[in-house]
Amino acid sequence: MECSDNSTADSMCTPAYVELERDSENDSSTPPPSPSTETEPQERFFDPECDPLKPVKVKFKDICSAAYIIKGGIIKTPCMKSNMSPTLQCNLYFKKDYLQYTGSFKERGARYMLMMLSQEQKKNGVITASAGNHALALSYHGQQLHVPVTVVMPIIAPIMKIKMCEQFGAKISIIGANISESKDHAMEMAKEKNFVYVNGYDHPHVIAGQGTMGLEIIDQVPDVDAVVVPVGGGGLIAGLALAIKNQKPSVKIIGVESERCSSFSAAMNAKHPVTVKAQSTLADGLAVPKIGVNAFHTAASLVDKVMVVKLIEMDKAVVEGAGACGLAALITGQLPELIGKTVVVPLCGGNIDTTVLGRCLERGLAVDGRLIKFTVTLSDRPGGIFELTRLISRIGVSIKDIMHERAWLTGDIFSVEVKVVAETRDREHACELEHILRSNYSDVSFVACGEFQ
Ligand SMILES: Cc1ncc(COP(=O)(O)O)c(C=O)c1O
Repeated sequence: MECSDNSTADSMCTPAYVELERDSENDSSTPPPSPSTETEPQERFFDPECDPLKPVKVKFKDICSAAYIIKGGIIKTPCMKSNMSPTLQCNLYFKKDYLQYTGSFKERGARYMLMMLSQEQKKNGVITASAGNHALALSYHGQQLHVPVTVVMPIIAPIMKIKMCEQFGAKISIIGANISESKDHAMEMAKEKNFVYVNGYDHPHVIAGQGTMGLEIIDQVPDVDAVVVPVGGGGLIAGLALAIKNQKPSVKIIGVESERCSSFSAAMNAKHPVTVKAQSTLADGLAVPKIGVNAFHTAASLVDKVMVVKLIEMDKAVVEGAGACGLAALITGQLPELIGKTVVVPLCGGNIDTTVLGRCLERGLAVDGRLIKFTVTLSDRPGGIFELTRLISRIGVSIKDIMHERAWLTGDIFSVEVKVVAETRDREHACELEHILRSNYSDVSFVACGEFQ
């Protein structure tokens, strides 16, 4: 990988162990961070690496250093032109970071963080609180680099992720009803056992590591006009924006977050990180109620726009919700300014839960008019259901589920209500089904297009 900023290229491309600088004074380009106000919930433990009073602004040279140091253990993922380009009216490229070994970009920051520890810190080990991609990334690279890793996960953590972290040799503690409680426990344990606590989006080395994806994007798509990036705690957008703007300041950096947890937008409005309510979302990786202080301090002046998306629109994506957030912004037509431009969207995580994937596929079918639910009241005489199924099968509709209802009906004693879930080819086929039912039965209720109860 090459650094293309001529002014500092020599020093940047050496494997220097970079001392990160703290901004003790505010500069004019970034809004000053504010200490927690009375309305902000106080954290029980203090992480000196993420100090709201002394935020770190990560430097471009840190990213170059990270790229050099981690290159033996991270995949340079492809950035390929998407066949959705004509539909979305732009030259769309997907940066496929879900192809990293553990399925997400989080490996970049985790590996750099681990490699930057002192020998003694490596021997003692690290700890983090995470139920997702950061936990997997840290566990895997800890194993590769022989650094003991402990992960504290909330009780709601998916069993698959717990098992995978264990397979990577991490010690798992399931403590806490939610991730904030797990974090408190992890920080307490860090103090007790002399572990280094690794914040998965705000540790300066994690931000620098994530930025290496930006160097690859510029290398792979030199004529890029805009990058649309999902935002959770802000580590990815901070690193990417820094790497890209340093080499090509004209590139627009657009942050996308879930409307169910828009902590970056809230921080931009308040000019410092504030706590917002985090509701459950398909993009669980983005549900971080407060943007990282270092991430915000690094990213605020580099990000051109932040927008929120409703992720239900993305139900048909096979990458995980968080990983596909940027694409959701384009598909929903919220970025008309990108028409005709060259746009890169990082698909940065592929670890979708199997059950969540199943639900997504079903909802996708419903949105497409291919999964239909209807109720019809018919005669409870022999042949009543036969007649209904014959009508349906004649037009090629397939029944997925069928249920009889007799007891709770108030009308004719010889009638029965039949509830059916059926699969159709498309919306037109669904209309044909509705027409045939209404022409043959007087009492029909038809539900299509995701109106399921
Ligand atoms: C797949 C995926 N995309 C994006 C993000 C957001 O990254 P960050 O928290 O650094 O903003 C995450 C965070 O976990 C993630 O897992």
